[in-house]
Amino acid sequence: MKRIAVLTSGGDSPGMNAAIRAVVRKGLYHGIEVYGIYRGYMGLIQADWTRLSVGSVGDIIHRGGTILHTARCEEFRTAEGQDQALSNLRKENIEGLIVIGGDGSFRGALALNDKGFPTVGVPGTIDNDIEGTDFTIGFDTAVNTVIHAIDQIRDTASSHERTFIIEVMGRNAGDIAMWAGLADGAESILIPEAPVQWDEIAHRLKRGNKRGKRHSIIIVAEGVCSGTEAKEKIESITGYDTRVTVLGHIQRGGTPTAMDRVLASRMGAKAVDVLLAGECGQMVAIHRNEIKAVPLREALATKRTADLSMYDLAEILAI
Ligand code: ADP
Ligand code: F6P
Repeated sequence: MKRIAVLTSGGDSPGMNAAIRAVVRKGLYHGIEVYGIYRGYMGLIQADWTRLSVGSVGDIIHRGGTILHTARCEEFRTAEGQDQALSNLRKENIEGLIVIGGDGSFRGALALNDKGFPTVGVPGTIDNDIEGTDFTIGFDTAVNTVIHAIDQIRDTASSHERTFIIEVMGRNAGDIAMWAGLADGAESILIPEAPVQWDEIAHRLKRGNKRGKRHSIIIVAEGVCSGTEAKEKIESITGYDTRVTVLGHIQRGGTPTAMDRVLASRMGAKAVDVLLAGECGQMVAIHRNEIKAVPLREALATKRTADLSMYDLAEILAI
């Protein structure tokens, strides 16, 4: 291969820039040209791209977001959209593509690969919901953002002796809620992977109250219900004064942690190696601290399940 391209797609995540930098610099190291596609699959359809140099990815390793921008592109879900993208890529003599994104973006990557265009995925999403990899780029930063916010809310919860519900992101996945809950000693954690037992949650609150605990933190993943719904439910059972904080998109931005920068650098570089080795239709992954490649199809075939032993541990420790 002489020319490859990289794009970021779906929800942005901290560390995507570090991954772009690694792709570009590892590509240049191997003597190939690297193009950056703007706005994910939208840029493929519109042939909106630029050639990236060593300098164009300088000073971005520490920045959240993505210098290539990202988008959700309905047109790319259609055969016409994909064919237009392929025709644009071939006209420009681009021979391989690296897609940094979540599972939706990987379905698009697999579609291109199935049509004969070598494509490799790099998991970039705060949700940590991709099968085949222990971690995705951005997850560690998002969890740190959440625990920083909860540490602040804890002060107010304690001063006012209130119960706080913190709604965190995670459409179908509870990892952000579970990790933040364990890291912050939350009283209860609500995740889509485990049944919600409102009476048990209320019982725990009352039990804590009886032994003198006057404030509590409950973390709810948005995939379970909204923070407001959780508040109504808990207030109706316990009668406790409850407040809700929805952390929202602050979880997606910000300076990536060292863990995310290192993960992104390792994964981005590996994606170039995988593409150049002709192993297309793969996703780079981390397992037991080893960076490897797994088939995209396999990663997409199964829904990643949360490690419920961590969930159980959080409950035991919050007794
Ligand atoms: P994420 O990658 O964060 O999961 P989305 O699910 O929104 O984000 O997907 C990002 C983009 O990937 C979509 O806007 C669309 O362009 C593309 N995409 C998603 N699913 C498919 C699919 N089944 N076939 C082709 N492209 C897809
Ligand atoms: O997939 C990442 C994610 O942040 C989810 O946790 C969240 O539900 C979703 O994206 C929000 O998407 P949007 O930015 O389009 O509202």
